[in-house]
Amino acid sequence: MTTKLDAGIKNYADAKEAIEGSLKTLGLDHIDLMIIHSPQPWSNFGGDDRYFEGNAEAWCALEEAYQAGKLRAIGVSNFKQPDIDSLLANAPVKPMVNQILAHVGNTPFGLIDDLMSKDILVEAYSPVGHGKILDNAEMRGMAERYQVTVPQLAIRYVLQLGLIALPKTANPDHMRNNADVDFEISAADMETLKSAKPIKDYGDASVFPVYSGR
Ligand SMILES: NC(=O)c1ccc[n+]([C@@H]2O[C@H](COP(=O)([O-])OP(=O)(O)OC[C@H]3O[C@@H](n4cnc5c(N)ncnc54)[C@H](OP(=O)(O)O)[C@@H]3O)[C@@H](O)[C@H]2O)c1
Repeated sequence: MTTKLDAGIKNYADAKEAIEGSLKTLGLDHIDLMIIHSPQPWSNFGGDDRYFEGNAEAWCALEEAYQAGKLRAIGVSNFKQPDIDSLLANAPVKPMVNQILAHVGNTPFGLIDDLMSKDILVEAYSPVGHGKILDNAEMRGMAERYQVTVPQLAIRYVLQLGLIALPKTANPDHMRNNADVDFEISAADMETLKSAKPIKDYGDASVFPVYSGR
């Protein structure tokens, strides 16, 4: 199980309290993975302040809980390269994962390479582009060739990049379909998917700051 430290918590005392609060709410003596939801509070997402000090303080609370066995693993989400480098400069325990937006039409290759070179696991959230990829005619055509669904193709794409895929569905049939991805996308098709047209409009999902670019 993964839980997140609220993006707005940028000091040690509040982070410590929030970790204890999550354990209590979940009724557990440990959590598998806890991640800082965002380097910046949502209210200032995309602003100039990267909250380096605040993230270092929050990270300190996560490290302590990790060392106490309350958190089995600790990580971050939506962290860019400078945010990661700032944490690494002072933290005794490095982030084990960075959960980032990554899908066909929006794959941050530079960041992914950097994280992999630092041995930080990359989790791709919204691998189906919050459902936007479903409408894509090119994806449909390619999926038909492989005799798979568009979500299967989209999930397999991030897996072949070496990422963990975090799709979401409320439909058990879709869940089974999303887990059935034991096929291989050819190198040529991977190149096509890597250079797919960027998705600019996420429809209803654009209200999330991570999508709207705010
Ligand atoms: N760390 C962060 O800041 C952050 C931000 C956003 C999201 N996330 C996480 O990422 C995960 C996924 O995010 P997401 O919902 O944005 O996007 P997603 O998984 O890319 O897309 C979900 C959409 O795709 C549809 N879908 C999924 N599998 C399908 C299938 N096999 N066939 C047809 N439709 C399918 C779903 O509809 P149905 O329900 O009808 O299947 C839903 O509309 C969530 O766990 C979320 O918590 C993290």
